[in-house]
Amino acid sequence: MVPDEPDAQPEPDAAPRPHGADPSLDDPAAKLEFKLRHHELRSDLAGRPAVALPDAADDPLAALVAARRSHRGFRPDPVPLTALAGLLAGLRAHRDGDLTRRGYPSAGSLYPVQVYMFVKPGRVDGLDGGAYHYDPEGHRLVRLGDDLPDAGVHAPVNRPAFAAAAFSLLLVGQRRAIEPLYGAQARDFCLLEAGYASQLLMLAAAQHGLGLCPIGGLDDAALRGPLGLDDGHVVLHSHVGGLPDAKAAAAPPAGPLGPTGLRAWLRTRLPEALVPATYVLVDALPRTANGKLNRKALAARSVADASAPAPAASGLEERVAAIVANVLKVDRLERDQNFFELGATSVHLVRIAGRLRTELGCQVTVTTLFRAATVRVLAGQLDLGAAEEAATQIQQQAQTRVEARLAARGRRGRGGSDA
Ligand SMILES: Cc1cc2nc3c(=O)[nH]c(=O)nc-3n(C[C@H](O)[C@H](O)[C@H](O)COP(=O)(O)O)c2cc1C
Repeated sequence: MVPDEPDAQPEPDAAPRPHGADPSLDDPAAKLEFKLRHHELRSDLAGRPAVALPDAADDPLAALVAARRSHRGFRPDPVPLTALAGLLAGLRAHRDGDLTRRGYPSAGSLYPVQVYMFVKPGRVDGLDGGAYHYDPEGHRLVRLGDDLPDAGVHAPVNRPAFAAAAFSLLLVGQRRAIEPLYGAQARDFCLLEAGYASQLLMLAAAQHGLGLCPIGGLDDAALRGPLGLDDGHVVLHSHVGGLPDAKAAAAPPAGPLGPTGLRAWLRTRLPEALVPATYVLVDALPRTANGKLNRKALAARSVADASAPAPAASGLEERVAAIVANVLKVDRLERDQNFFELGATSVHLVRIAGRLRTELGCQVTVTTLFRAATVRVLAGQLDLGAAEEAATQIQQQAQTRVEARLAARGRRGRGGSDA
């Protein structure tokens, strides 16, 4: 129920589909399958000579990179001004004669990308709520006004993160600062610079106890006035940020929820395949010695305590259950127990699909597994698949017989006229 890999995390709401994107990938299962195909990797180089690279000893960058990640949940307590100052310090401009130097590159050293912030009231120590411009030479936040955007500027999928965030950070290109030199390349160069600066911000955030989440696109019309943007400005990229709350998840409705209410609420947040079938009330989540969630113990308790789920029935269900239990490393699982509830991730689904193929001869896709994430439903689908396969085989055999008969008749006919 608490999957820890990004692939297993569903998008809570559908964002408007970008122009040109494939509508068939709106379906979370199809999207997962698309990701799992790993189009980003070269699959045509197998067998070529390759040199394994040694791991760099004590690589100082490794720890920085390992600490970077996108955060979408934030604690409500105020961000210390020193932490925010540390975050922005990476973007500082240092005078070097007439020119300036910064911690990230810029085409022609022009640095056309400017940084703006919206800070919520009471969420950053020492800063009133409102809009600010980061002055990279003075390392100060210049106040622009009181107006703050509402959640409507964000796609639905990003609204919970925005709602929890203490501040938003916007990277805005000033075309007049680059177009005279780079013409049509100006926007691309601004986007690249925003990317370099964003990476620096994300690395710095982790070092200063802050979390950021990049936001792919927002409706900037309502932001331009409060930020004092002119027609040379182009909003390139943004982040929401604050004190990261690792355990943050959208809170369920207030008041006690029974299994039906919980299931109904989860259905508003998750695709059907991820909604658990059984619910077990525990006093506290079991933890491992180092304080992490003990998924195995939790799974064992789920099986032992769940409200009388039906045991596995058919032979096929038993064989499927054995494979799934083995891949998920749980002792056993019930026919209605959701695989995701037991900690299944996309990697597990790929393994299960492979084992079903090799051990049961069932051609099953990861998409099928994603949708049929209980033993009962999955075995039903496999049975159906087998029945369809058998029907296709019978049809093909019949077709072959008919074709053979027709061919034989044709030969006889031709033989007759030749004679
Ligand atoms: C150009 C770009 C746009 C992104 N847009 C969003 C977004 O709109 N909402 C979101 O939650 N994450 C967004 N992300 C963050 C990615 O989802 C995230 O980087 C990815 O899942 C990898 O996770 P990690 O950053 O924690 O390693 C975006 C990242 C990039 C580079």
